[in-house]
Amino acid sequence: MDLGIAGRKAIVCASSKGLGRACATSLAEAGCEVVVNGRNREALETTAAEIRKATGAKVIAVAADVATPEGQKALLEACPQPDILVNNNAGPPFRDFRELTRQQIIDGVIANMAVAIELTQKVIDPMIARKFGRIVNITSGTVKAPLFGLDLSSGARAGLTAFMAGVARSVAGSNVTINFMQPGTFATDRLASNLEMNAKKAKGERMATVPAKRFGLPDEFGATCAFLCSTHAAYITGQNLLLDGGAFPGAF
Ligand SMILES: NC(=O)c1ccc[n+]([C@@H]2O[C@H](COP(=O)([O-])OP(=O)(O)OC[C@H]3O[C@@H](n4cnc5c(N)ncnc54)[C@H](OP(=O)(O)O)[C@@H]3O)[C@@H](O)[C@H]2O)c1
Repeated sequence: MDLGIAGRKAIVCASSKGLGRACATSLAEAGCEVVVNGRNREALETTAAEIRKATGAKVIAVAADVATPEGQKALLEACPQPDILVNNNAGPPFRDFRELTRQQIIDGVIANMAVAIELTQKVIDPMIARKFGRIVNITSGTVKAPLFGLDLSSGARAGLTAFMAGVARSVAGSNVTINFMQPGTFATDRLASNLEMNAKKAKGERMATVPAKRFGLPDEFGATCAFLCSTHAAYITGQNLLLDGGAFPGAF
């Protein structure tokens, strides 16, 4: 399918690895110019080179912390008026909520809620003026079905979801959509490190709980993101798309 977004400019935050990288790759395959981002410059440059080689797209690497004002400034200097913004960032580590300090709570809300709102504030008016914009927020399946130890992540992302739900309706008339992707269990470095913390056998046990009997592939996630950014998805906004291999047990 031609996604109709060749030549569009995209910023994909936190995209040197994992789900962000997969989204950047799929958008590059669709013909977008893509800004990729991560804090580790070496890993980021390698990713940028690999995406360029695989897709032939223009890929700009911005080594920066997306959670800081300087990092956001660097992203927007590289691409002042993106047509597509994929908000992504690391999630907080597993922790019993009783142990969280006030500062850790505030940092989690900044990382998984405030940063996506700040970037949206900075890009949305030019999208409205151009009558095209796609904002995809990578949140988590834990927004829908909480996991013990990830309460800060779930809460901050649920806050983002509610915040943006109203914003999405306010810009829908200008062909600007805002959607949310909720990953269940995808085979990325983040998952590997979480499972390592919970011992090796956790991998098999976790996989067995997924009706699809496997973890999600980052490519599957990236392709879905590119579709949500396509011209074909113009009538989809304010939606939460759960990608979890059937793990959430509800009918709705
Ligand atoms: N994988 C899953 O199954 C799953 C499930 C639910 C939710 N999620 C959420 O989805 C998001 C992506 O997860 P993932 O599995 O793709 O993680 P990952 O494989 O660990 O990749 C994280 C990426 O984000 C970059 N990054 C982290 N902090 C950053 C920052 N402050 N500024 C810029 N870049 C930053 C990392 O590069 P640097 O370290 O070099 O900065 C890396 O490129 C996370 O929020 C995660 O909690 C994932």
